[in-house]
Amino acid sequence: MADEVSRETPTKVVGVRRLKEAMAKPSSTRIFTVANQKGGVGKTTTTVNIAAAMAMGGLRVLVIDLDPQGNASTALGVEHRDSAGVYEVLMGSATMPEVIKKVSGFPVLDCVSSNTSLANAEINLVSMVARELQLKTAIDEVSANYDYIFIDCPPSLGLLTINAFAASKELLIPIQTEYYALEGLSQLLETYSVVKKRLNPNLNLSTIVLTMFDSRTRLSNDVAANVRSHFPNELIDIPIPRAVRVSEAPSYNQTVMTYDPVSPGAIAYMQVAREIAERGKPKDVVFDSNVVSINYKGGIA
Ligand SMILES: Nc1ncnc2c1ncn2[C@@H]1O[C@H](COP(=O)(O)OP(=O)(O)OP(=O)(O)O)[C@@H](O)[C@H]1O
Ligand SMILES: [Mg+2]
Repeated sequence: MADEVSRETPTKVVGVRRLKEAMAKPSSTRIFTVANQKGGVGKTTTTVNIAAAMAMGGLRVLVIDLDPQGNASTALGVEHRDSAGVYEVLMGSATMPEVIKKVSGFPVLDCVSSNTSLANAEINLVSMVARELQLKTAIDEVSANYDYIFIDCPPSLGLLTINAFAASKELLIPIQTEYYALEGLSQLLETYSVVKKRLNPNLNLSTIVLTMFDSRTRLSNDVAANVRSHFPNELIDIPIPRAVRVSEAPSYNQTVMTYDPVSPGAIAYMQVAREIAERGKPKDVVFDSNVVSINYKGGIA
């Protein structure tokens, strides 16, 4: 009952409990671009909730809001309209450490916000030297301080998204489970392969997350099966359900992880975050019986 009441009266986050079971740390910083040039598929929602879940799991996480809409900054409760952010970094008038803001309540969850000036970045970047590498240079300066960095992209494949591709090691594509889900995906994959060839050979499409899944509809299940058949290794097999709490959270400047941590959307994002962390943990040293037996025989010879 008390639980019900607290779920109905969302308040500002004052502190987030760490999970009992910490999430696995990667051997080096994993930097993700979260991209899909299709609008409204859940890029921002996926970015902020996976980031929040990982921070609750004890990981050090940075979110970079690379969308002039500033939705990720809003969802993380970070002031972004009147302060310097990623635009100033791209233009060289601020450094990353100067614009990194702490997300309140979390042990280590930081955000580089966007502001409306970022809408000019595509134009202003064009004339700059190494225009595709501005973000990478900036991230390199701080990446060692984090286990995970997520870059939330705008719904386009312009210079901002290219900067994110160039700065990242991995690409995470959220796919909304609806009729036109795969439309435009080939263009995104084309851009990915051009960037991989010309700009950043280390970029790897590692992760696909299904969003706004409705298990009752055949369409959602068909889309999931289709994505699974094309990307069996990349797909995280835990879809994010369409859930009202997920869409309500940003209006309280929160992620669903704090707004309603026991709601189905929060539980799914927590599972997805843990799965991503598991996939990225250092591989255990494999016990190689051949090597041991050779040594052993060598020992008694
Ligand atoms: N699992 C979900 N259940 C219900 N609503 C959701 C879910 N995921 C996202 N939404 C809602 O769908 C809308 C689009 O989500 P979001 O802003 O994350 O997409 P986006 O890809 O970042 O959009 P844009 O292309 O504009 O940046 C938002 O209103 C969000 O609250
Ligand atoms: Mg967005």
